[in-house]
Amino acid sequence: MTQQAKKVTVPAVRAMKASQRIGMLTAYDYPSAKVVDTAGADIILVGDSLAMVVLGYPDTLSVTVDDMVHHTRAVVRGTSRALVVGDMPYLSYHVSVEESVRNAGRFIQAGAHAVKIEGGKESRIRTVEAIIDAEIPVMGHIGLTPQSVNAFGGFKVQGKGTEEARRLINEALALEQAGCFSLVLECVPAELAAYITERVSIPTIGIGAGPSCDGQVLVLHDLVGLYDGHTPKFVRKYANIAEEMGNAVAAYLADVREGRFPTDAESFHSGTREELERLYGSGGIVVPIK
Ligand code: KIV
Repeated sequence: MTQQAKKVTVPAVRAMKASQRIGMLTAYDYPSAKVVDTAGADIILVGDSLAMVVLGYPDTLSVTVDDMVHHTRAVVRGTSRALVVGDMPYLSYHVSVEESVRNAGRFIQAGAHAVKIEGGKESRIRTVEAIIDAEIPVMGHIGLTPQSVNAFGGFKVQGKGTEEARRLINEALALEQAGCFSLVLECVPAELAAYITERVSIPTIGIGAGPSCDGQVLVLHDLVGLYDGHTPKFVRKYANIAEEMGNAVAAYLADVREGRFPTDAESFHSGTREELERLYGSGGIVVPIK
């Protein structure tokens, strides 16, 4: 196994804090995982953003553990190097600590190496500790946590002002203390993300959190231009795959309608035409032979 192909582990991600920037992306199925893994992502997140970019919901709240586990299995089958993190959906870790541990375990049994959980308040810290106690590595996620969209009153930048910043710093420290191996910072001012990154010993992974985090994550469908919903300011679009797919589909339909598809090269041949004509004749509608 070459150095490049060496599997990324939880301790390896922790160690990257001191040595290299972490590249993380979402994926939701076998082909997208294969593309992201082959391109060299360190971490693949089976994000609950799948609710929006794959399933067409307006937010992430409708996706279930069953949905997430189904997609996690497909991503795991398409991944050979990256660390696979399963995103625990809304209501899967909100009811009781016991239920949270069981739900986290379902991701591990589906092949994920870790889970991600949103929030850093006191009750959440107890849940994180219990999941880690069950030998399941946890990635924290603070700032704009999309499962709290109704409580926040929309998808808004978090951590503006001293009080809000203090709250997020305390959450980051509590999640580090609880044993999280890394921490996503979403939609927070770059200065605050830089400060948190300096103050915690675990890697921070930013999305809309400026350039000073230890790594960055984007939603794959935003990056490749395959999502027609709102594109946040922090997204850099590297391709327009929706347009390319649309052009390919339109070209196929035109070829079908103009008789250009399929050609001989795309057909199978058997040499039975003469035999069939001997049996049924050469023109018109055939009457079945009994
Ligand atoms: O669900 C998701 O894609 C995420 C990332 C944006 C961090 O949580």
